[in-house]
Amino acid sequence: MLLHIPGLLGPEALAQAHAILAEAPWEDGAGTAGTQARLAKNNQQLAPTGLPARQVQALVLGALQGHPLFFSAALPRRIFPPMVNRYSGATNHYGKHVDNAVRVVPGSEGERVRADVSATVFLANPADYDGGELVIEDTYGEQRVKLAAGDMVLYPGTSVHRVEPVTRGARLAAFLWVESMVRSDEQRRLLFDLDMALMRLRERHGDDDDTVRLAGTYHNLLRMWAST
Ligand code: NI
Repeated sequence: MLLHIPGLLGPEALAQAHAILAEAPWEDGAGTAGTQARLAKNNQQLAPTGLPARQVQALVLGALQGHPLFFSAALPRRIFPPMVNRYSGATNHYGKHVDNAVRVVPGSEGERVRADVSATVFLANPADYDGGELVIEDTYGEQRVKLAAGDMVLYPGTSVHRVEPVTRGARLAAFLWVESMVRSDEQRRLLFDLDMALMRLRERHGDDDDTVRLAGTYHNLLRMWAST
């Protein structure tokens, strides 16, 4: 499932992120990629445990905390601390790749996160750069994603994806992975659809015996499929 979550970061958080990143020491992004991905990767990143990266991490994790749409779609069990990247100039693209399935949290004692869901939080205003679309291959073909600053996209960790060359300006983004309580994208999708439909039904009609029964079905499916 590919899901657009608008306005994850508001204007204040974005302004803070921009101030942090204006001064930040960028490094070659290949350092944190897997063997195949490293060949395709040509961008810059912040050192994951440095202060600027940790400050941006705090902004993104704070916004994700208790975000109902993110929670319903990702059903997070663990979140890999967001990293920050930049595409511009000669380091301006990331060719086709699949993200590593299991990531070790930088600075931890070997804490692992299985990447069930991938997420990108766009930080630059799309008018300030050309190119830089995140292109995700899914069962319906290629989806080209370039979102407003502060918006997030969630997509399956299993998908082949790439970032198109940036030909003007700079594309700044935070990215992260979620280990979900529900490993299967298909099951997560069913739960999300059921949750959203149920929420709209309750908004329209309030609660009755049938919405209670449907809510029970949601929780019983989650009980069947979730690992905590
Ligand atoms: Ni990737």
